[in-house]
Amino acid sequence: MAESARNYLVAGNWKMNGSTAANRELVDGLLDGFSPSDGAGMLLCPSFVHLRDVASWIAASDIQLGAQNLSEQTGSGAYTGEIQGAMLKDAGCDYVIVGHSERRTLYGEADDLVAAKFIAAQAQGLTPIVCVGESLEQRETGSTEAVVRRQIDAVLDAAGVEAFSGAVVAYEPIWAIGTGHTATPEQAQDVHAAIRGMIAARNDTIAAGLRILYGGSVKGSNAAELFAMNDIDGGLVGGASLSASDFLAIYRAAAG
Ligand code: 13P
Repeated sequence: MAESARNYLVAGNWKMNGSTAANRELVDGLLDGFSPSDGAGMLLCPSFVHLRDVASWIAASDIQLGAQNLSEQTGSGAYTGEIQGAMLKDAGCDYVIVGHSERRTLYGEADDLVAAKFIAAQAQGLTPIVCVGESLEQRETGSTEAVVRRQIDAVLDAAGVEAFSGAVVAYEPIWAIGTGHTATPEQAQDVHAAIRGMIAARNDTIAAGLRILYGGSVKGSNAAELFAMNDIDGGLVGGASLSASDFLAIYRAAAG
């Protein structure tokens, strides 16, 4: 990333983990060790029910808040169990993850729904972090770039390239999520460069400013080498974001 003016972002996706007490301990640990850097932001994405607590605990810090999902619906109404972007904004969120592979594979979210969620997020003042990535089988059969292109194009075609100037992309190879098998820096860089190229084909300036995070078994021990790659602008961290010391180590790798 050395060649660009993009700031790093280190985001913790807590997934379906946590309790009020456990979150308090985690956030206290983060606040104790966190020193904000101009070059890197820290973002926490707790479960929906924990957003307000976390928002109040980090309110006096530079740590930001995001949600893990949102409804594609932008109006209020009869959508039992759904959470609208405006509600997330009201709860203190600035960001929301859309199209995480767990949503795509376990909950059947297709490309068009992911694109609709991306658009809904922006319409309600949230920065979407849109996740893309291939399965092990897709990698082994050489279709990584085609899969990622299909996922990116679905959003580009629905939202337009301008929408990417207010968005973040996360490349998360499914085979690296929660497995301990991190992509090598070179493997990740190749896909990040391809993603930036897909955006650049429509708008160079937007592509140059787009933050592309890597996710998949990021740890304190591998974060620095990943973040040193030209097109890797931070991380979307699952397991290691549940430990204050581990997440702080990853943040420091970005903040320098
Ligand atoms: P892990 O860091 O646990 O591999 O999870 C990555 C992820 O899915 C973040 O969204």
